[in-house]
Amino acid sequence: MQLEISNLRKAYGATVALDGVSFTATAPQFVCMLGPSGCGKTTLLRMIAGLVAPDSGRLLLNSEDLTRVPARRRGFGIVFQSYSLFPNMTVAENIGYGLRIRGDEAQRVRIRVLELLDVIRLSELADRYPWQLSGGQQQRVALARAIAAEPRLLLLDEPLSALDAKVRTDLRTEIRNLQQQLGLLTIMVTHDQEEALTLADRVVCMRQGSIAQAGSPEDLYRRPANRFVADFMGLSNMIPLETVQKFAAQLLEGHVPSDGATACVRPEDIVLVSGGAGATVKSVQFLGNISRVQVAWPGGELVAEQPGMAALAAGANVGLAFKPGGCAWVSAS
Ligand SMILES: Nc1ncnc2c1ncn2[C@@H]1O[C@H](COP(=O)(O)OP(=O)(O)OP(=O)(O)O)[C@@H](O)[C@H]1O
Ligand SMILES: [Mg+2]
Repeated sequence: MQLEISNLRKAYGATVALDGVSFTATAPQFVCMLGPSGCGKTTLLRMIAGLVAPDSGRLLLNSEDLTRVPARRRGFGIVFQSYSLFPNMTVAENIGYGLRIRGDEAQRVRIRVLELLDVIRLSELADRYPWQLSGGQQQRVALARAIAAEPRLLLLDEPLSALDAKVRTDLRTEIRNLQQQLGLLTIMVTHDQEEALTLADRVVCMRQGSIAQAGSPEDLYRRPANRFVADFMGLSNMIPLETVQKFAAQLLEGHVPSDGATACVRPEDIVLVSGGAGATVKSVQFLGNISRVQVAWPGGELVAEQPGMAALAAGANVGLAFKPGGCAWVSAS
């Protein structure tokens, strides 16, 4: 299964929601579309689903042109952010909905629904109504409903964002496992970079209706194409070239950055040496698995992260070093 999108555009009056978006995705990839609020993620996903018509551009699935094909004929499964279950139907009825409307026999629908209830581990709740379920359970039902009719493509628009942290990470793993088992090409919208990094084979980072960068999670985290992507993909220290030249010349080894370039150094790539000199600890935040340490150095301030509890306190003098290979150079824009 291959989805090929080329040059999709959409404007709402003066607002350009999509400004010429192109990419290709192939099963069994898990693609995450990531970006700040209003950058066009939902518009693009709904366009792939057939719920929003593009002003121009094309959408092909295995070379079949779907650009003008209505949503119900695309054979895609969709899960929205929340409250998308039919409130007047039970769990089982919700899951079987797509099968019934396409005319499957009642017995066949029953078997498939039981199978899916087992997959999402909600067999006991088959006869409940959506309002009798937790948010996480509702989203599992929505997922089962989306895959019931063996879709050619699975589309998810922030399916986890209404859930609390624990349920969210559990369900994230379930979605990933299910997607892998089915070998299903999946496109998920999120604005959570951690979610994108953990789930995706491919991340498409969007900015104001365009793709800022597309690549593997590692590409975007380690080799951001520009400052926007570097900033968006998690905490990073942005050190201007002049500062690097003055105070951190080691970052220049093997690189000839262009004028105006900025070094992007992730917090985990900064090493603090207790008992050393050159920098001062401003504050230490213990976050459970890591400690986040704010330090002042002649080049300004930096954030460093260390595993576990840092044996450092505010006011301590420390040495500062950069892990080799831990720096990416990005252009200003
Ligand atoms: N039906 C519509 N009518 C007018 N403008 C719209 C419509 N749908 C989207 N827009 C505009 O298009 C732009 C992109 O919206 P979209 O919903 O795709 O963003 P998003 O990336 O999903 O944001 P969020 O993370 O907040 O969900 C926004 O400026 C939005 O206001
Ligand atoms: Mg959205």
